[in-house]
Amino acid sequence: MIKQAIIPLAGLGTRLLPLTSIFPKELLPINGKPGIEYILDECANAGIKKIIFIISKKKQMIKDYFYKDSFYKKIIKKKKDPRVIKEYKKILKYKKMIKFVYQNKPLGTGDAVLKTKKYITDDFFLMLLPDDLIIKKNCSKSMINIHNRYKSSVMASINVPKKTVSRWGIYKLGKKLNKNNYIIKDVIEKPSISKAPSNKAVIGRYILPKKIFSRLINQKPGKGGEIHITDAIQSLIQSNEKFIAHNFTGKYLDCGSMNGYIKSTLEIAKS
Ligand code: G1P
Repeated sequence: MIKQAIIPLAGLGTRLLPLTSIFPKELLPINGKPGIEYILDECANAGIKKIIFIISKKKQMIKDYFYKDSFYKKIIKKKKDPRVIKEYKKILKYKKMIKFVYQNKPLGTGDAVLKTKKYITDDFFLMLLPDDLIIKKNCSKSMINIHNRYKSSVMASINVPKKTVSRWGIYKLGKKLNKNNYIIKDVIEKPSISKAPSNKAVIGRYILPKKIFSRLINQKPGKGGEIHITDAIQSLIQSNEKFIAHNFTGKYLDCGSMNGYIKSTLEIAKS
């Protein structure tokens, strides 16, 4: 069973300026609820028990959101508002599940994952990228079911327009396992149109094996000088580690760009 999840949260959020000049993007409200809570709800409903947040000193406000509870206590003492009590209980529940580690230099997703090395105890763990919201169906839960069936790593996937391939990790399709699941042959981080093996993109949900840490330790920076998780995954695939692409059935919302963030609010409001 997958019981541990990690969430890289040290990203700078430049695509959401001015909203992110002092405020972490993951705390921005999406239809009246901070974005990070959608991700936490997905984890909890998928049976995750422990979550590691990878933050930076600049993102300290995320830790405060779960730890600084004197305002809640004061209000609840004064006035027993059931809505506030319910919200406070939710914060307390998540506080107990979350551990914080730090990535103070934005050296890439692979580097963020490496910071969690000593806390991962199981053979496989879940990673969620908080810019990627998936609504209407719990994608992590579906991926955990696939993992339980095939005992392998899994990545969420969608088809993207060919002209946008350089925005994503793009993979080459292998054998079809069943309707929504395929073996991945190769994966390339943000390829040019001419180098892209397909228009199938990896979206921010990954079930990764603990052995990925041994690849990350020696990994050289890739695209844009960053350590990418995609490159470590490709190295494992080349050593015959099985990775499955799961074409999820939920709706994908990209909250990391201003356009996507605005659209997410509208989509969730009407759903
Ligand atoms: C990251 C991954 C990329 C993946 C994308 C999904 O990119 O590196 O492979 O396709 O998330 O959102 P980023 O969004 O950090 O640029």
